[in-house]
Amino acid sequence: MSQKCYKSAGIEAIHLILMASSNVAKIAYKTLQQGKNLAGLAHKGVTTKIMEVMLPDSKSDFPLNPKLLSDLRDSIDLLEQIDWNEAENGIYPVSQLFEAPWVEWAKKYPLIWLDMPSTWERRRKSKTREIPKKIDQDLYPDYYLQNFHHQTDGYLSEHSAKIYDLQVEILFNGTADLMRRRILSPLKKGLKEFDDRNTSRINVLDVATGTGRTIQQIRGALPDINLYGIDLSGSYLKQASKYLSSRKGDLVQLTKGNAEEMPFSDKTFQGISCVFLLHELPRKARQNVINECFRVLEPGGVFVLADSIQLSDSLKFKDVMDNFYKIFHEPYYKDYINDDIEKRLTEAGFVNITANSHFMTRVWSATKPKI
Ligand SMILES: C[S@@+](CC[C@H](N)C(=O)[O-])C[C@H]1O[C@@H](n2cnc3c(N)ncnc32)[C@H](O)[C@@H]1O
Repeated sequence: MSQKCYKSAGIEAIHLILMASSNVAKIAYKTLQQGKNLAGLAHKGVTTKIMEVMLPDSKSDFPLNPKLLSDLRDSIDLLEQIDWNEAENGIYPVSQLFEAPWVEWAKKYPLIWLDMPSTWERRRKSKTREIPKKIDQDLYPDYYLQNFHHQTDGYLSEHSAKIYDLQVEILFNGTADLMRRRILSPLKKGLKEFDDRNTSRINVLDVATGTGRTIQQIRGALPDINLYGIDLSGSYLKQASKYLSSRKGDLVQLTKGNAEEMPFSDKTFQGISCVFLLHELPRKARQNVINECFRVLEPGGVFVLADSIQLSDSLKFKDVMDNFYKIFHEPYYKDYINDDIEKRLTEAGFVNITANSHFMTRVWSATKPKI
């Protein structure tokens, strides 16, 4: 065999090995997701049965018909396919698909069970304002001082921050991180506007960063940029700081503050993300946050917003959306699913608005025009 033939056989072999390892990784990913789906369903199945026995009056009549189940399954399959494809295409590292603090979650799982009776009780008695007494209520907007999802202490304690991620993971049957990751592609695309700039001069802010899962995903996809996070909950930021410092990557600057009035100068950021915040805000605050994101964004910068799907784009999941605000304490959700977010973005001054739905999440991308 000539040297040229040896070389091309070698390249082919490497290609086959890479393909095989990619297939193995894909199977591992699918298996992991199936496991998470089943674990979420099993948990909810068991807890619903127990709740129905202990609190018969809180029985839900959620119509899970076969067509809805099949639509939900198809939608999850599509989400997983996109999640895999974008990783393979280098939008974020494949390793990110497998990132989950399993040991920590296993340790926290019993806490979720221990928390459940008080959550049910709150729900049964329609108690929605049980906030820790030591909290200085004057420091927060009134809409914030509630037990969103009936969760103990609302967003205002370390206990709540500790179990939040696992609760969300269970709620969405293991798809929460996949839905959050849908902001990465539009964010990277929007930041191309600043390609000629050194990455040390690119600032990205995650608004309502919570426990830091979105910021960690951005850090994986854009390792060299400056990252900032803001949230109203000191406890959630503490949890975020703990989580982020346990992972590889540069420092992230976390600030406690209201997204309606952010302590940042005009035009500070080239990119802004905001995940799962808008549905927890009343109308006025929703617009204020969008306006504020516009203010702190540099002209040419990109704003990527992810939140629940809405009736106008996903009518087939109307029953799921209705059930969400009936079961959980989500005081602004019904208003949110009827709201016109594109109109709000336009009112703030954004242009080039695009939107796509992924399972239970809709992602909008918008640009601040250059003057
Ligand atoms: C549903 S959680 C979403 C958190 C995170 N983005 C995620 O993907 O898990 C909503 C978050 O918004 C924060 N939040 C609510 N109202 C806020 C406001 N006005 N300003 C800043 N953060 C706010 C809460 O403290 C909480 O961390």
